[in-house]
Amino acid sequence: MRLILLGPPGAGKGTQAQRLVEKYGIPQLSTGDMLRAAVQAGTEVGKRAKAVMDAGELVSDAIVNAIVAERIDQPDCTNGFILDGYPRTLVQADAVESMLAERGIALDAVIEFVVDDKALVGRIVKRADDAKAAGQPVRKDDNPVVFEERLREYYKKTAPLIGYYYAKRSLRSVDGMAPVDTVTAEIEALLAAVTRETVTVK
Ligand code: AP5
Repeated sequence: MRLILLGPPGAGKGTQAQRLVEKYGIPQLSTGDMLRAAVQAGTEVGKRAKAVMDAGELVSDAIVNAIVAERIDQPDCTNGFILDGYPRTLVQADAVESMLAERGIALDAVIEFVVDDKALVGRIVKRADDAKAAGQPVRKDDNPVVFEERLREYYKKTAPLIGYYYAKRSLRSVDGMAPVDTVTAEIEALLAAVTRETVTVK
């Protein structure tokens, strides 16, 4: 199973990706997590990405494409993977096409989280508050000011992917405003339908 989770910041991509990991036994490839790990480790990529991420902007296509291309060749990705927060630009989407074609593999679905933007900043602020209360590190971009920029970047650069994948007939949508368990159930149902379609076509 090879999936892309698509949606604005705070839509629930990471939350659902973790559940899909459990259900399907395939890894979550979150470019956000990978970049934060690089920042934490002080690598060259991390040094270049830090200020961009803190400002809520997108890291360069070249950096994230290289990270993902290397990651999907790891043995744990043999049976599939969940791309969480990648691709985020049309250039990245084209890179995914090439990566998959070069390896002779295909996408099963692109899942779009349909959400009410007005509710998202509340989720982000709550996550920051919860982390602080638990004595955990708070993401530098989890505040209302940077969130606005993240959302602008989403509409400018990522939202066009909805049309891109719709045209390729890969797009499936879920109601990201529903409770977490309901979203999970909706995703599982649509993936079961995708699997049935694939079996029928074969
Ligand atoms: P990234 O880490 O990918 O952040 P994001 O996309 O902004 O996503 P979030 O993690 O904030 O939200 P999410 O949709 O995963 O929601 P979550 O499940 O966490 O990217 C960070 C930065 O890295 C980017 O700004 C950019 O700089 C860089 N970057 C990353 N990828 C890149 C790329 N491909 N190209 C270039 N740059 C890149 O949920 C959020 C909160 O809501 C949680 O507290 C959760 O508990 C809660 N919640 C989840 N679902 C529900 C629900 N149904 N109801 C109520 N609450 C819910």
